[in-house]
Amino acid sequence: MAVKAAITSVGGYIPEYRLTNQILETMVDTTDEWITSRTGIKERRILKEEGAGTSFMGIKAVEELLTKRGIEGSEIDLLICSTTTPDMPVASTAAYIATKIGATNAFSFDLQSACSGFLYGLVTGSQFIETGKYKKVVVVGGDKMSSIIDYTDRTTCVIFGDGAGAVLLEPNEEGYGLQDSILKSDGAGREFLYIKSGGSMRPPSHETVENREHFVHQEGQQVFKFAVNNMAEVSARIMDRNNLRSDDIAYLVPHQANKRIIDATANRMGIGPEKVMLNIHRYGNTTNGTLPLCLWDYEKNLRKGDNLVFSAFGGGFTWGSAYLVWAYDPS
Ligand code: UT7
Repeated sequence: MAVKAAITSVGGYIPEYRLTNQILETMVDTTDEWITSRTGIKERRILKEEGAGTSFMGIKAVEELLTKRGIEGSEIDLLICSTTTPDMPVASTAAYIATKIGATNAFSFDLQSACSGFLYGLVTGSQFIETGKYKKVVVVGGDKMSSIIDYTDRTTCVIFGDGAGAVLLEPNEEGYGLQDSILKSDGAGREFLYIKSGGSMRPPSHETVENREHFVHQEGQQVFKFAVNNMAEVSARIMDRNNLRSDDIAYLVPHQANKRIIDATANRMGIGPEKVMLNIHRYGNTTNGTLPLCLWDYEKNLRKGDNLVFSAFGGGFTWGSAYLVWAYDPS
């Protein structure tokens, strides 16, 4: 049987500070009722530690994953860090995480695909396993969204939060692991969700700072329309081409951007809420953190042989879906 890439351990980290809807009500013109009914979010976590970036959370997530699997960092061959908020614009965040967790024999790289980054990372990491050349690949997904959010903009500040999760991929010859994936992108979408300045097109200047151009700008309704259609379509397609009926699916693992988008995807797949991983009410949208944090929260519910469908949509636009068979029972 061909070698597949199976998830064999999961780690996660969320900061302690809880930014609740009630606190946001005192910061911008919003209400708990609006946020809850439009997004499903009740609170999100914010990383408050001075000088700590995305790597701070990624390191903790990977350390937990290694401890649970009972292995050393030196056994890791490759570490991919999927993030939209690297510690620094140039130095690789993945390289820093790898060094800090003792992955002295690994190479590492960052992957930027906005909210689809973890899904892209999972599929990319799996390719390295499937070639037979790499035995232990870590994929970390995490973001410190609070570093790029304008807390005077009610259209974005109620949505995002900070957090990171990580998975370990190992070869499996019994059929468990990643079975299929569909990854898509369309650059026409970049006008709806972006940070205007700070990149090569419009480098930082006094003017860009004064105009608050270093924060996320989102045209919510436009993104919503694309997200609903594309996440649902790609998830239905991956079911179709793998002959999966709704009864065959143990869980949908959806990107946590908006409860209404998640519900629409589940409806299209014909699955009930009991089969949908959900933590948006507790963490908001952690961008690259959402999918691995879902696995982290639901790991105890998963059984060997469970069919999971991952689904994500993000800036760019980028989106996709993956079908994976879970490889272990809870310990
Ligand atoms: O993860 C990456 C991909 N991102 C997504 O998938 C996000 C997709 N978009 C969405 O989830 C939703 O569009 C949002 C949650 C961002 C917004 O929800 P919406 O139902 O699309 O609201 P809207 O933008 O159409 O705004 C409706 C009203 C507007 O007021 P008017 O023009 O009707 O008077 C907004 O100004 O709600 C207002 N509004 C708010 N009111 C209270 C916008 N933000 C807020 C707020 N509190 N925080």
